[in-house]
Amino acid sequence: MIPVNTPLLSGNEKKYLLECIETGWISSEGPFIKKFEEQFAAYVDRKYGIAVSNGSAALDIAFKALEIEEGAEVIAPTFTIISPIQSIITAGLKPVLVDSDIQTWNMDVTQIESKITSKTKAILVVHIYGLPVDMDPIFALCEKYNLFLIEDAAEMHGQTYKGRKCGSFGTISTFSFYPNKHITTGEGGMIVTNDEHLNDRCQKLRNLAFEPKGRRFVHEEIGWNYRMTNMQAALGLAQLEKIEEHIRIKREIGRLYQEGLKEIQGFQLPTPQTDYADNIYWVFGLIADSQPLCEATVKKLSDQQIGTRPFFWCMHEQPVFIKMGLFLNESYPVAEKMARNGFYLPSGLGLDNVDINNVMSYFV
Ligand SMILES: Cc1ncc(COP(=O)(O)O)c(C=O)c1O
Repeated sequence: MIPVNTPLLSGNEKKYLLECIETGWISSEGPFIKKFEEQFAAYVDRKYGIAVSNGSAALDIAFKALEIEEGAEVIAPTFTIISPIQSIITAGLKPVLVDSDIQTWNMDVTQIESKITSKTKAILVVHIYGLPVDMDPIFALCEKYNLFLIEDAAEMHGQTYKGRKCGSFGTISTFSFYPNKHITTGEGGMIVTNDEHLNDRCQKLRNLAFEPKGRRFVHEEIGWNYRMTNMQAALGLAQLEKIEEHIRIKREIGRLYQEGLKEIQGFQLPTPQTDYADNIYWVFGLIADSQPLCEATVKKLSDQQIGTRPFFWCMHEQPVFIKMGLFLNESYPVAEKMARNGFYLPSGLGLDNVDINNVMSYFV
């Protein structure tokens, strides 16, 4: 079996975890938390890092921390995991969707301005699968219309846009450390920002909105217990020490697939680079020319014990949102094609060359 993901835990993970057990620091109160927050925030060129229980929790906190007035609109990609869209909705805001760009698989930035209304208060960018969103047009729109920028960088640890780190762009930016990410904490996430007030808000919201001053157990607002444990942070710190090696491995996996699959017919491969970034290959995706070809390929790979994942399913086609009366009769043809015809190959850091050759041998 070649699983779609295998993490790589080859550094100080065991040593740091043992330290947690030996010292008894296993909750969110241990010393690895602060170290991981500081070092990760510094790595992505931010002042503050707030470690949380997962990347979805980071997004819940991010949207609530901004205190945007209820009913305001947030421009967002339809092609994404559900996490940021459900965070927008649970913060009492309205997602307004845009289609994707078929070359980068990210939101089509040329479609954003036509969606801006007097109610728009923020743009959500989600960097998808390996290439960042083209940020310059978004910076210009945020400036022109005075909008917040929320950056979901869950898949982009270490990636850069024009030489600047992904995760350094949003009013608030978020990461995930699920085991299929470039670095993992098992489950985990991080919010990063340069804004002291937002840092305070995020710290508070992840901790049941306990008031930093005043009597304990008296609350002015509702938050969550979205704390990360010291054990997760211990893993994260060990992984962060290896991040450049992990990125190098991911790019090598991407290069081998690109080289081995360049002649195949009927599939679009990822774009290796744009004029602003080299693909970091969080996953190696393929878009088949047709849905039957996609389904048949996934089935044949599965019969040979090769794991794949389908691409995200568009937000405007999610039964849960349609039941809520959202996105009715909306259509985003590029994203719909990607969702129906796209899947990704085993792309984990633990993959070796034999596995990659086995996967590719199916196609030739
Ligand atoms: C773009 C994006 N945002 C958010 C998340 C959610 O992260 P988590 O699984 O840690 O909740 C993911 C997870 O893969 C993701 O890819």
